[in-house]
Amino acid sequence: MENKMPEGFFWGNSTSSMQTEGGWNEGGKGQSVYDVDTAGRTAKNWQITIDNFHDYQHDFDLMKEMNMNMYRFQISWSRVVPDGDGDFNEEGIAFYSEMIDELLSRGIEPMICLYHFDMPLVLAEKYNGFLSRAVEEAFVRFGKEMMRRFSSRVKYWIVFNEHNLYFAEGFEHYSGVLKKELTVNDCYTVFHHTMLAHCELADFLHEISDAKIGGMLATTEVYPASTSPKDSLYLRKFDEFYNRNLCDVYAFGHYSDEVLTFIRNHKIEMDFQKGDELILERGISDFISFSYYRSVLLDATTLTDEDTPNFYLSKAMKLNPLLSHNRWGWSIDPEGFRNILNRIYREFGLPVFPIENGIGQDESWDGEHEIEDDVRINYHKKHIEAMKNAMFLDGVDVIGYLGWGLIDIPASGGDIDKRYGAVYVEPETLKRVPKKSFHWFKKVFGSNGDEL
Ligand code: BG6
Repeated sequence: MENKMPEGFFWGNSTSSMQTEGGWNEGGKGQSVYDVDTAGRTAKNWQITIDNFHDYQHDFDLMKEMNMNMYRFQISWSRVVPDGDGDFNEEGIAFYSEMIDELLSRGIEPMICLYHFDMPLVLAEKYNGFLSRAVEEAFVRFGKEMMRRFSSRVKYWIVFNEHNLYFAEGFEHYSGVLKKELTVNDCYTVFHHTMLAHCELADFLHEISDAKIGGMLATTEVYPASTSPKDSLYLRKFDEFYNRNLCDVYAFGHYSDEVLTFIRNHKIEMDFQKGDELILERGISDFISFSYYRSVLLDATTLTDEDTPNFYLSKAMKLNPLLSHNRWGWSIDPEGFRNILNRIYREFGLPVFPIENGIGQDESWDGEHEIEDDVRINYHKKHIEAMKNAMFLDGVDVIGYLGWGLIDIPASGGDIDKRYGAVYVEPETLKRVPKKSFHWFKKVFGSNGDEL
């Protein structure tokens, strides 16, 4: 059996700007929804984070030392266009341009993400974010400019982080919508606007360069909670609406028939205008990327056909008693990872790219001894093994493997207790301290995945 990872396989780290940069009011940056207390977030957690605005060089050195050859980072829209749709801030653009050069000089391929939940505040307040077509247009303007500036040096792009979450209940603020209680119409409108933006930017990138662009999903492997046919029926439906509908656009340039039937039956208005069909058709992606952390169960007992399938999980999710879970109830399930790699590749035929994987742990450093994060080592080992099985036993075309936050960053809730890193970041001093897994990753990445 072939088991050598392909030459040029990517190994690396993945982050967002609001979880790494700090410098929230410096360098001409405008405010984003993360810089003020909105949607239950405490802004102060986001104002410093791990301070990459003032020093990313040392973190890039650590990434190089770990033998990484890719870093996925995000360009903060509000750093580059302070009010979202006005003048470009050249200082912000120069910040990212230098970052790209610093990565390339270390042999680390940059991957750019254009949006990771941090809507410029002005656009959130004035228009309710992606509910408005004006915001979609402002975003495309920003994205095109970044592509013009950087696509000769940056060959991998994604537009929206975890694109399916912009439609999930409880995640309204991810799309910059400050209005509470979104209607189903609102959700579909946000979804359609972001899909249009994705496709317009994919088309544009292909027009101006040879760089590649991917769709990006938040995946969670979901199993039926029982052998009841109803669990399987609703699980299939959930998958169609939550994952496959987006992949249909990325790979084939149209929405899923089943979703369109639901939209017609429920008379949903999603601001579908003349010409939109063509935009979707022209915006085919080159790969499908995704985050994967865990699996759950779907118990459909209380679901009916009146429920919106995108929201099934928030109504009917259960934990799997056969799996172990971390403190936050996130299970460890490498087989789920192998299943997802297979399903996306098999059904949509595009190369797949897991660009977020990892396990959150509550850790502290005693100032002396190395942090022994064997749970993390074991988690990544099992997931890389599962990925190799998907590649070599099942024939899946995988581009690379990026861990999430491999230098500690605050979690999505702003909580620094939940860490994913191979490098510990001391909360007060921001000192970087390699954990045991640092040496393990270095060996794995340096051997192109041979030495697990
Ligand atoms: C992804 C997000 O959902 O998961 C990240 O893209 C987030 O922003 C990561 O940090 C891990 O989730 P959490 O909630 O543990 O930080």
